Amino acid sequence: MNDLHIAILGHRFMGRAHSNGWSQTTRFFDPPYRPVLQVACGRDTKDLQKFADRWGWAEIETDWHRVIERDDIDVIDVSLPTHLHAEPSIAAAKAGKHVFCEKPFCRTADEAKAMLAAAEKAGVVHYVNHNYRRCPAVHLAKKMIDNGEIGEIRHWRGAYQQSWLNNPDHPLDWKLKKATAGAGPLWDLGSHAIDLAHFLVGDFAKLICHGKQFVSERKMVEELSQTGEVEVECAANLMGEFKNGAVATIETTRYATGRRNRHTFEIYGTKGAITWDMEEMNRLKFFSEGDPEDKRGFRDIMVNEPSHDYANAWWPPGHIIGYEHTFVHAAADFMQAIKDGTGIKPDFNDGLKIITVLEAALRSMETGEYVEF
Ligand SMILES: NC(=O)c1ccc[n+]([C@@H]2O[C@H](COP(=O)([O-])OP(=O)(O)OC[C@H]3O[C@@H](n4cnc5c(N)ncnc54)[C@H](O)[C@@H]3O)[C@@H](O)[C@H]2O)c1
Repeated sequence: MNDLHIAILGHRFMGRAHSNGWSQTTRFFDPPYRPVLQVACGRDTKDLQKFADRWGWAEIETDWHRVIERDDIDVIDVSLPTHLHAEPSIAAAKAGKHVFCEKPFCRTADEAKAMLAAAEKAGVVHYVNHNYRRCPAVHLAKKMIDNGEIGEIRHWRGAYQQSWLNNPDHPLDWKLKKATAGAGPLWDLGSHAIDLAHFLVGDFAKLICHGKQFVSERKMVEELSQTGEVEVECAANLMGEFKNGAVATIETTRYATGRRNRHTFEIYGTKGAITWDMEEMNRLKFFSEGDPEDKRGFRDIMVNEPSHDYANAWWPPGHIIGYEHTFVHAAADFMQAIKDGTGIKPDFNDGLKIITVLEAALRSMETGEYVEF
């Protein structure tokens, strides 16, 4: 098995999730390469060294430009804040590296177009890490929809709710500034919800979006005795219609008390319905109009039988998997895509499509009007 040399940019939340993802691939899957955790890049050398030691990264570096210049690196893993996705991804593609990039893809459709153009010109594998697509239950939902098991889709109800900003002491970090985050929960959480909507239902025909500011000032990260302006929306509710005629609602917020990371969808079709909740990610709920009338109800499918995608690589049936497994699935599929030259979804094309929808939603939030595609 050949080695594939990885460099990761960023070493906090996603740095950890991705390091675990790359490391576990050869233990549970049969990827075509052995990922070598070569360089970890970040700004804080002490924390970075601790991270590298814990996860087995061979070297550390504080300047991402120097990482991308290296000839011995095959993959650049962009686990940086959103404003730092475009420049390193473009530079990496130009240098012939495959790019594994976190979501939201970037801040604007213009950035997205430049990223896509660079990746396509270089002929490298490009991927946006909407990892929820790689939950076995979400794969099963896709198969069931494609098999016509719920008929023609009429409703998509998506929600991505968190609660961490209920804490009044949470400071004004990069996720609360437009220049670094692109927008608020619409970008951060809505990008995932829209990716699943695209994956499971299709493209949007039109949408309207309502945003709300609950808290406009927070303590500055640099100086907690001072406050600064929260530049992004606190909650965003989107309503729209898909090109296939189904209607959609999507809620995104970081102020849903008690909802720590509730990412859900409900899909209602002419013959049945499917619902999913990330906090119970091994389960898919399915209702079929075809069931005998006296026994109709939502079935609870545990999606970890050997016949379910990804599940066979893990544990015997009933031994559930979690959030971190989606990153292993993504890393394994990414390596297979490099070997096969096939590409992997969602790619930078899909990223551009999502950012285009998000930009339209932001515009609608300002004008109060529908945007058509
Ligand atoms: N897929 C998911 O489930 C998921 C979950 C959380 C975050 N994310 C995304 O992952 C990305 C990173 O988010 P996070 O929560 O890990 O952020 P974080 O704030 O925890 O970590 C950001 C990292 O970037 C480093 N960094 C910042 N500026 C840098 C620079 N100029 N040069 C080098 N390193 C720099 C920081 O030192 C830190 O290591 C974001 O785009 C976020 O939206 C995805």
